[in-house]
Parts: sequence; structure tokens; C-alpha cells
Amino acid sequence: MRIAAGSDHAGFTLKQDLITWLNGLGHEVVDLGTPVKERCDYPDYAVAVSQAVVNGDADWGLLICGTGIGMSMSANKVNGIRAAVVSDAFSARATRLHNDANILCIGERVVGAGLAQEIVSAWLDADYEGGRHQNRIDKMMDIEN
Ligand code: RB5
Repeated sequence: MRIAAGSDHAGFTLKQDLITWLNGLGHEVVDLGTPVKERCDYPDYAVAVSQAVVNGDADWGLLICGTGIGMSMSANKVNGIRAAVVSDAFSARATRLHNDANILCIGERVVGAGLAQEIVSAWLDADYEGGRHQNRIDKMMDIEN
């Protein structure tokens, strides 16, 4: 899997931890910043990761800020993105199975490092089910137009 990862300062530590862990699992992770833990603005990194996903430079996106909320709100402004902020493995799996989420958002101030790994694993291991969900996805994406 090629994963584009991004965070602001509040998600920096968890981003670095998850990148190291994902690399160890054999995933190719492109770190789109922030490169240092200095205060910065989460929309900048949400857009960078979203564009990588939409352009096909990455299969999936991973965005981390303090809560994951600002990242998800920003990413969902980009056409073609379905970003989901989750704090549990069940929702992470469901958002792939049912919502075909292409970006996962996590809050470093909400979720510990161990749970974050479980969330990312559940998300990466689940495949979109299609079928009855596709009409709903189509309706959702039509809202962009
Ligand atoms: C930064 O303080 C914080 O507001 C940001 O990381 C995020 O939680 C916003 O949604």
C-alpha cells in the first residue's frame, strides 16, 4: 500500500510513530509533513495528502491532528475525498466497508499509540463492500457537484 501521511504539530508525534510502524509492515509511506513539531495549520497538510490521494500518487491518506476533526473537515472539502475521523477499530473497519473512506483521520490527543495502530490495521485490512453501499456513495459524491 502507498500511504500519504500528514499531520500538524499536535499530531506530529503519532504521525512519526505510525510511519515507522507502517514501514516495518512493508507499506510505502510518503510523509507530506509537517516535518517538525512547530505550530502550523492543519489545512495545509490535509490538502497535500488529499491531493496525493486524488491524483493517484497514494492509495490512501492518513491525517493526524489533535482531535482529527480539523483534518477531516479540511480533507472533505477536496473533491473526491471521503475522510473519516475515528477513535475505535470498529468504526475504522466500517468506514472502509460501507463508506469507502480514502483518508483516515486520528486525533493524537484522543487516541493512544497502541489503539492508533489497531485503528490503522482495521482500516487497511478492510475492503469496500460495494453493492448496496454504492448508490449511497454516489449520492454523497454528487453533493460535490
Ligand atoms: C491544534 O491546537 C488543534 O486545534 C488541531 O490539531 C486540531 O485538533 C484541530 O482540529
